[in-house]
Amino acid sequence: LDGGQLLVVSNRQPYSHGYDETGEVAVSRPAGGLTAGLDPVMQRVEGTWIAWGDGEADREVADEDDAVEVPPEDPSYRVRRVWLTDEEVDQYYYGYSNRVLWPLCHGGIWKTDFADEHREAYEAVNRKFARAVREEADDDAVVWFQDYHFTRAPGMVRESMPEAFLMHFWHITWPGWDTFRSLPHGEQTLEGLLGNDLVGFHTGQYVENFLDCIERGLDGATVDRGNDRIEYDGRTTDVEAFPLSVDFDAIAASAECFDSDDWDAFREEHGIATDRVAVGVDRLDYTKGVPERLNALEQLWENHPEWRGELTYVQKASESRSIIPDYRDLQDRVVNGVERINDRFGTDGWTPVVYLDEHLDGDTLNGMYRHSDVLLVSALRDGMNLVAKEFVAAQVDEDGVLVLSNQTGAYEELGKHSVTINPHDIDEFADAIGEALRMDESDRRERMRTMRQWVESHDLSRWMHDVFASAADVRMRRRMGM
Ligand code: G6P
Repeated sequence: LDGGQLLVVSNRQPYSHGYDETGEVAVSRPAGGLTAGLDPVMQRVEGTWIAWGDGEADREVADEDDAVEVPPEDPSYRVRRVWLTDEEVDQYYYGYSNRVLWPLCHGGIWKTDFADEHREAYEAVNRKFARAVREEADDDAVVWFQDYHFTRAPGMVRESMPEAFLMHFWHITWPGWDTFRSLPHGEQTLEGLLGNDLVGFHTGQYVENFLDCIERGLDGATVDRGNDRIEYDGRTTDVEAFPLSVDFDAIAASAECFDSDDWDAFREEHGIATDRVAVGVDRLDYTKGVPERLNALEQLWENHPEWRGELTYVQKASESRSIIPDYRDLQDRVVNGVERINDRFGTDGWTPVVYLDEHLDGDTLNGMYRHSDVLLVSALRDGMNLVAKEFVAAQVDEDGVLVLSNQTGAYEELGKHSVTINPHDIDEFADAIGEALRMDESDRRERMRTMRQWVESHDLSRWMHDVFASAADVRMRRRMGM
């Protein structure tokens, strides 16, 4: 992009600093698609990433500009931290972002918990981030906002930097107008986002939904459907689908490092007693459909006793947003479901569901994907689901099966070659797991090979290339007054 400096703005930072048991500073990497997707991009582009400093030791390691160089082992870019008060975290992050926008965008209107003071705090925090952008930005900077935490900041930055190039990537689903219109003051969300020159979503459907919302929810906006372009308040915003992906080569190389001896040792360590293994890897969120998955597995073991003692399901889970009651309920449901199944079917030599909530390093996670027979993705709604693509990239032996929910963005790309499920249809889901386990080798290989070719040719570099090529094009048109 003409060598302009790149500023990424997201709520979650890619590395956070805390203290270990001995009081030493320790770095950790958060769970979630956004940071997993963008950290490799930033390592290549070497810009500045502005994010909430949420780690206990973040201030200690920050320089006088509140920034730190990352990744720790081989620094290539800066993370500038924005400090938030406890009240701001409570109202902007847990309140408006995760109790209003998150459930709303995933279609869970009944889960939204709207409070005016949360919306006001959300605006105030967006203003804080907008200020940090102005402090960091050069004249020709490209500012790239991420996700639903920053729907106001683009409009705010635009006011003081009318010539800047602003773009946004929305990492979750964008709902239909009939869902979106339940958001009080929804027009402020739309207006703020139109401060951007370019707004990206994972799929064409989310683009359509967004354009519908603009057309029906924002007076004075005109939508050019042929070009997916919006005119509002004398400005133009282009909208486009860019399905986020994974670093295929890095994941495949990492999975290669984890051989069958490593896998045997891993199984031994975690009490995985069977050769046949299904896995699930999730941030513990109610959108991921983990209880539904456990119900389907329970049904499989109930109706098909031949899988008892023959199949183990490994659930890798990362705790998330636990202050919110809906998340605590979900955690309880998952833990109870695991216990119920293990009490019901477990034997001295076999634990049906192995629950892992500890951190796994990259090679171990990729190795687990490589050696598992089946990955179960049963999200009730999910913008993309990068776990599905990670699994495909890690399947270097090309013999595993992806069971994939039709409610994910990834389904648009991989649906034809996976075993697809409706996560609400437990009978169908249980049958699908059985089908995946029984699928003959040539079918398995053919499907996996096709999915691997797709993800390899539509990997993270391709995504980056597509986003920046469109950005360059839009920027050129703006400069020419088009
Ligand atoms: C999703 C969101 C990200 C978020 C991640 C983890 O992937 O799109 O914005 O960072 O979940 O959630 P958290 O609330 O822990 O940042």
